[in-house]
Amino acid sequence: MANADFFKSLTNLADARNYEEKAEKRIAEEERPSFHLSSRTGWMNDPNGFSRYKGQYHMFYQYYPYLSEWGPMHWGHAVSSDLLHWEYRPAVLAPDQDYDRKGCFSGSAVELPDGRHLLMYTGVMENPSEEVGAPEIQTQCLAIGDGSNYEKYSGNPVLTEKDLPEGASPNDFRDPKIIRAKDGSYRCIIGNRPADGSGQILLYESQDAIHWTYKKILASNGCRFGRMWECPDFFELDGKWVLLTSPQDMLPEGFEYHNGNGTLCLIGNFDEETEDFSEETHQAIDYGIDFYAPQTILTEDGRRVMIGWMQNWDTCGFYTREYKWFGQMSLPRELSVRNGRLYQEPLRELKSLRKDMVCYRDVLVEGIVRLDGIEGRQAELEIDFTPAVPEAFYKKFSIRFAENEQYHTKVSYRPNESVLKIDRKFSGSRRAIIHQRRSKVKTGPDGTLKLRLILDRYSVEVFVNDGEQVLSASFFTDPAAKGISFVSEGQYRMNITKWTL
Ligand code: FRU
Repeated sequence: MANADFFKSLTNLADARNYEEKAEKRIAEEERPSFHLSSRTGWMNDPNGFSRYKGQYHMFYQYYPYLSEWGPMHWGHAVSSDLLHWEYRPAVLAPDQDYDRKGCFSGSAVELPDGRHLLMYTGVMENPSEEVGAPEIQTQCLAIGDGSNYEKYSGNPVLTEKDLPEGASPNDFRDPKIIRAKDGSYRCIIGNRPADGSGQILLYESQDAIHWTYKKILASNGCRFGRMWECPDFFELDGKWVLLTSPQDMLPEGFEYHNGNGTLCLIGNFDEETEDFSEETHQAIDYGIDFYAPQTILTEDGRRVMIGWMQNWDTCGFYTREYKWFGQMSLPRELSVRNGRLYQEPLRELKSLRKDMVCYRDVLVEGIVRLDGIEGRQAELEIDFTPAVPEAFYKKFSIRFAENEQYHTKVSYRPNESVLKIDRKFSGSRRAIIHQRRSKVKTGPDGTLKLRLILDRYSVEVFVNDGEQVLSASFFTDPAAKGISFVSEGQYRMNITKWTL
């Protein structure tokens, strides 16, 4: 039976593999998202080691198999050939060494020239000094394997307190992301807390991905965006360089950044000679409720694709031990930089899941409108809205989904304020956590707003104006609530195309 203390004593990989194999069978396919990766059993947070290896995509994840709550971190594992259909594989890491007894935290993966797959992760151990406010020591560790089984490196940990610049905290030193440089050598970027208490991203270098040396501070928070910066990623895209990070303890800034954990990117230039990064712009990555700690890969045909954890720490407080799984990943999103802004669009292969197209043109909406064939919890909706009378903006429109008499989640827009809101207050949540979030969006000259909604049983991702912004939210509404309706205060016209996915 669910006995938390007993489970906490299970720290070896064989126990985890045994447990997950049995526990997975208690979860019916319809009880999980269909094309989003969810925890095989128990708890999932950050994507880890997202990589292409031997013809498949590998996704590892922060994992506590025994309960649907965070616990000593393992790495779960799944593989896919198209990033939409995932197959679970046995867990690969358990907190079974002195240096990672408190958890195998987030990290990344890279293929070595000899064909082996290398994982780099953060090992967390108790701080022997018992210094106040620093209960843990974090170091970077390696495990090498073949895509199924991984052996922890005998020389672990490979980066420790000794490899930190002055003032850098060994208690917050985590989430290594390995990058292959053009000359075949390796770089690694790691989140850290400097003496000012905020965040910075450290850069390390290696010739073989095993022996690492400290190079420099790649980027500093300087107390601008939250405090500690977690889960960095860094890549070149469309002539710019993009640094992703997930700051903790953010203060709000207009509608761009909200309180708590956030995700943001810094876009700028990187001098590959001097390895200096210069920022030009910054923006939030997701403007909804649930998104954190994204990682990216380059697909074989050169697309930069990002997946994040479709939850967030302060907003995910509705899990209970009765849940058989908790935590899912976002859709894979194709990234591009246009005019200094990061755009995200659903992976183009998502279109291959489309079935049963239903289309309506120029529908006048006033009051509540329901349309034949427009419903479902696994669906894609492409909608554009325009005021019915060009000079007289309507007051507000809403699209309600996962709807029945009792429940709904909605996206609503007030053209006079240019504010789009996502609201899951009536989704069945019984917790006093965040249920709404607002974002400023742009409309075309005639007031047209374009939305693309992807629903997958327990989530929605709203892509605004061809990927200019995205708002994601998870919800645990009774699957019987399948309705979709359109509500208006004032009049607007819409074109809508809907597919079942
Ligand atoms: C981010 C994070 C990482 C850490 C992991 C622990 O969500 O806090 O910094 O490695 O989760 O599970």
